[in-house]
Amino acid sequence: MTGRKRKNTKYVMGLDVGTTKVCAIIGQQDDDGSLSVLGVGSTPSLGLKKGIVIDIDQTVESIQKAVQKASNIAGVEMHDLVVGIAGGHIQCHNSRASVEIVNPSRGVTRSDIVRVNSRAKALAMPVDREILHSIPQEYVTDSGSVKNPKGQVTTKLEVNVHIVTAAVTSVQNLMRCVKQAGYNTNGILLESIASSEAILHEEEKELGVLLIDLGGGTTDIAIFSRGHIRYSGVIPLGGDNITNDIAYILKISLFDAENVKKKYGCAMASLARPEEIFTVTKVVNDKKETVKRQELADIIDARLEEIFHLVRERINATSVHDKFYAGVVITGGSALIEGIAELGEKVFECPCRVGIPHGLKGMTSVVSSPIYATGIGLMRHGFTDALNQPPNGNGLYDWIQKNLLRLLSFFK
Ligand SMILES: Nc1ncnc2c1ncn2[C@@H]1O[C@H](COP(=O)(O)OP(=O)(O)OP(=O)(O)O)[C@@H](O)[C@H]1O
Ligand SMILES: [Mg+2]
Repeated sequence: MTGRKRKNTKYVMGLDVGTTKVCAIIGQQDDDGSLSVLGVGSTPSLGLKKGIVIDIDQTVESIQKAVQKASNIAGVEMHDLVVGIAGGHIQCHNSRASVEIVNPSRGVTRSDIVRVNSRAKALAMPVDREILHSIPQEYVTDSGSVKNPKGQVTTKLEVNVHIVTAAVTSVQNLMRCVKQAGYNTNGILLESIASSEAILHEEEKELGVLLIDLGGGTTDIAIFSRGHIRYSGVIPLGGDNITNDIAYILKISLFDAENVKKKYGCAMASLARPEEIFTVTKVVNDKKETVKRQELADIIDARLEEIFHLVRERINATSVHDKFYAGVVITGGSALIEGIAELGEKVFECPCRVGIPHGLKGMTSVVSSPIYATGIGLMRHGFTDALNQPPNGNGLYDWIQKNLLRLLSFFK
């Protein structure tokens, strides 16, 4: 630790283990409560497919590299982190439960709130799945819907919760990677929730907003309205599919396709001029050929429209499909494609913007990119960890049991 700042509880690290990159972000909470980014370390991710760990050793190596880079820049040695999770195994649903209040005149107590929440998440869960988050949306008392029922006089307390479940093996593999890399998992958070904490404004969550995190291997979606998450889901398609399409149609290498996409790509042919052209090298005969930017836009447009229509299909099946009055916010690395917001507006028929992390100090020129939305959200979550805190009261037993089981699984 020579020459380094001492470990301090005011530092938090977010770790985004994505399909294309692993990114560690170290932040510090200043005395006035504001957050400063002290270090960012990003390295290519080689051990994941569609958001799921498929190679532990490669993932461990990427985590170590990313954390070391971030630590060197920050001058802080970190041991604990908040890690993000995604992948097609993630499922969500809304649940409702109610309890009688034994002594209504005394008002709702903390233990009543714990009791109703425990009941809402007491689900028949297959052995291969676990509850990742159980997020209270709103409480209902005799006088109607309330955000915080504590102290309210009522005979009955109801709660609506958003429950996110994950495959036990996927969670354990991710945590195993973090542990083998030499770090402690202090919290685990659904990536779309993490991104939302970095890029959405409270007013958007209140009015209703659809968040789309277009990464490399997955597209994570979440709907917020009246301040709370209403739907979350993961579609196993992303920017890598666009790169594959470009390589296949233009008959060029994946490496060239990725570069061409980043350099000349746009989401709609109407945004490119007919005279805009670029040169590619064909894989078969190594010959150079010119391609119109509009042709490239057509390839990208087709795949993006497919992804957006899949998003629409998913949300049309929910009860909140028409509740995003604040529009759509697109983030993740693929949100850097020129014209993506315009395409989003066309498909979703509402206002659409690209979401970048906001409200931060330090390294803003680096992290003001949709690529860092998840990492920043995870770091931010570390300071306001509401979802993974051990609840007081009856829930403490559940928390200890769940986390002890997780810990023991490493030694099996
Ligand atoms: N300038 C750019 N233009 C277009 N696409 C880009 C650009 N920069 C990055 N991308 C694409 O963004 C994708 C990676 O995004 P991101 O870093 O958010 O993914 P990830 O978090 O690693 O993956 P996932 O969230 O799917 O597990 C890749 O497909 C990459 O090609
Ligand atoms: Mg991601």
